[in-house]
Amino acid sequence: MFDTMVFTKIVGAFCGALLVFLLGQWAASELYTVGRQGDEQAFVVAMPEDDGDEEAEEEEMSFEERLASADPDAGSGVWSQCRACHALEEGQHGVGPSMYQVVGREIASIDGFGYSGALPEGEWTPQELSAFIENPSDYAPGTSMSYGGLDDMGERADLIAYMHVESGGDMEEFELAEAERPEDDEADEEEAREEDEDADADADFAALVAAQDPADGQNLWNQCRACHALEDGQNRVGPHLYGLIDREVGSVDGFNYSGALSEVADVWDYDSLSAFIANPREYAPGTSMAYAGMGSEEDRAKLIAYIEAEGQ
Ligand code: HEC
Ligand code: HEC
Repeated sequence: MFDTMVFTKIVGAFCGALLVFLLGQWAASELYTVGRQGDEQAFVVAMPEDDGDEEAEEEEMSFEERLASADPDAGSGVWSQCRACHALEEGQHGVGPSMYQVVGREIASIDGFGYSGALPEGEWTPQELSAFIENPSDYAPGTSMSYGGLDDMGERADLIAYMHVESGGDMEEFELAEAERPEDDEADEEEAREEDEDADADADFAALVAAQDPADGQNLWNQCRACHALEDGQNRVGPHLYGLIDREVGSVDGFNYSGALSEVADVWDYDSLSAFIANPREYAPGTSMAYAGMGSEEDRAKLIAYIEAEGQ
């Protein structure tokens, strides 16, 4: 009995306290809410809006980029805007034609569907689909598809991905198309880089020739002297090499050239000369110069410095 009384008192006290607490909370929240819902805010703190940033980022993305990262599952939600008139099953046409394999399909090509005649000729590429869905009556004035349009590029990409995947398509097809371009860019860059390197190599070789002591090339000249002279007008098995640098290729009067040289260069400058001497038969297939070639770039630079210094 006694115990029960104490217990009852404790419970009573607790309930009372709870009631006061709840009342207090209600009063406080009432006051607070009134304050917040007041006519006007006293001051506005400009906060960076995350949502806005995301949208801005999405706008900077190209449609192709967005499509490559599209989410077919998200697109299934958007599809609810189309399903009243379109089915995704092959051959099932409603108010509109079936969307089965619509990506890549010829426009207005479903036999037996009564098209308006407003749709253009061509193919439903993802880009065309996106443009049509964005604003059907803008894209195809007079179209019988009475659908207001889908502004959000991301939603269009997701939707197109959904229709594609649901018809057995593969998201990789979108990724591929997107990946091709950066690769092309890289290839272009690489080409440009190689051209730069070629130009650098040309300049480097000229510098290498300039750095040589012509006397160091005299021994190397022994490989040529059986067939060539450096004196003007003296032809042997090969034409004389007097004034060779900047001389027109195959231009010594009275020498019987093979005709193979004029195919490969106009004048003998450091680079064409170096390339020819390095491997005559590779550089000028069919040449009558029976010389195996000089592998060392430095040797070629020494020899060319010698020919230039002696043959003028
Ligand atoms: C109110 C009905 C309706 C709604 C909603 C609708 N469409 Fe259509 N759709 C049509 C009709 C009708 C056509 C035929 C248009 C024509 O012939 O000009 C069509 C045509 C199309 C075509 C061209 C098909 C072809 O064979 O060339 C595509 C693509 C398309 N709709 C996609 C969509 C998508 C995607 C949605 C949802 C975002 C959608 N439609 C919503 C009725 C609708
Ligand atoms: C076995 C003989 C032989 C040797 C060795 C030889 N050449 Fe020749 N050279 C020729 C002949 C033949 C031609 C003409 C090639 C032709 O018409 O296709 C020629 C052509 C050339 C030409 C082109 C000249 C022009 O008027 O267009 C150059 C440059 C040249 N030789 C440099 C050299 C150098 C440098 C060496 C030594 C590293 C060398 N040759 C070694 C026989 C030789």
